[in-house]
Amino acid sequence: MKVVAVENFADPSFSADLIGWQKVHGRHVLPWQNTRDAYLIWLSEIMLQQTQVSAVLGYYARFLERFPTLRDLAAAPVEDVMAQWSGLGYYTRARNLHKCAQRVVAEYDGVFPSDPLLLAELPGIGRSTAAAIAAFSSGRRAAIMDGNVKRVFARVFGIDTYPGEKKTEESMWRRAEALLPEVGIESYTQGLMDMGATLCTRSSPSCERCPMQPRCVAFATGRTRDLPVRKPKKATPEKHAVMLAIVDGGQVLLEQRPPSGIWGGLLSLPELDGHVGAEDDEVPEADHDALLQVVGKFGEMESCERLSTVTHVFTHYKLHIAPYHITLARRQAMAAQTAYVWVNVAGLADAALPAPVKKLLLELVGDRREAQQRMF
Ligand code: ADE
Repeated sequence: MKVVAVENFADPSFSADLIGWQKVHGRHVLPWQNTRDAYLIWLSEIMLQQTQVSAVLGYYARFLERFPTLRDLAAAPVEDVMAQWSGLGYYTRARNLHKCAQRVVAEYDGVFPSDPLLLAELPGIGRSTAAAIAAFSSGRRAAIMDGNVKRVFARVFGIDTYPGEKKTEESMWRRAEALLPEVGIESYTQGLMDMGATLCTRSSPSCERCPMQPRCVAFATGRTRDLPVRKPKKATPEKHAVMLAIVDGGQVLLEQRPPSGIWGGLLSLPELDGHVGAEDDEVPEADHDALLQVVGKFGEMESCERLSTVTHVFTHYKLHIAPYHITLARRQAMAAQTAYVWVNVAGLADAALPAPVKKLLLELVGDRREAQQRMF
């Protein structure tokens, strides 16, 4: 028999507690409150996307002085709208705001629809913003879901998967729908926003004053710091390079790297192609024929020794370098105008080399000198 888990997110006491708290402790005198005018509410919700109340207040007042009605806004040149928005950031919002005003005038005779599904089809209005506008301007029961709500839900319900992940986000939306109150959607919606912004803050939540404390899973289990779960870090990609340290007569062969890309313009060791991008940190053995072919351009190989792998960590990936120490029996004259140069080992410390390559080479030539000194 197939067992299907049934979600039961409904809990009328959640909205009752939140509404009770909002009526006493929530915010009631913000300039876009105590009105049912959808223009005033819509403008505030767009300005408040990704922006704090304190940053919005001045812009909101100045914007309404310049564009007192939706029709004023729709009739204005977009440059004037952009000028009023200047400094608030995320300028796509301003362009969409203007387009949206024109669409509401053209398609709805200047009156915003009250159906959140219709609102969400207008430029710049997503599902959550549509729900907030519909709740505040028409008392429609619709669920909001922004970063603050995700944080409150993750903590109160102990949701320990990343809220940016599709499955978790969809489940949060279903929970948000199930928790909507039968009456009092305005106080409920405002309460969620107020709790997220003033109590259940990211880094120092005021749990002692929170109406959700008795039911909060994060509080009960001491996990307010760990919830919501942060975005999982992608594993650092690993790349591999086989580098040839061809040493002959007190000199090492270096190659000028192309001007762009990693280590652009620096000197480095010649590399064998085809070793970049293997999965783990072990660099595969160099292909012997390929190695002979490359070394053959510079002389006749005398000896070849694989040295230990060196790992260099860049910001976006790790590079595992497999160095081969190669000596020549006979050096071949090089054509002029190549990217290769023979450099005296005594000058390596001052050469324009990438740090891990310089370290590797200094260790190599240091070791050889010590070994020679021990021999004599
Ligand atoms: N953030 C988004 N909408 C808001 C509102 N109506 N009041 C306060 N903060 C908000």
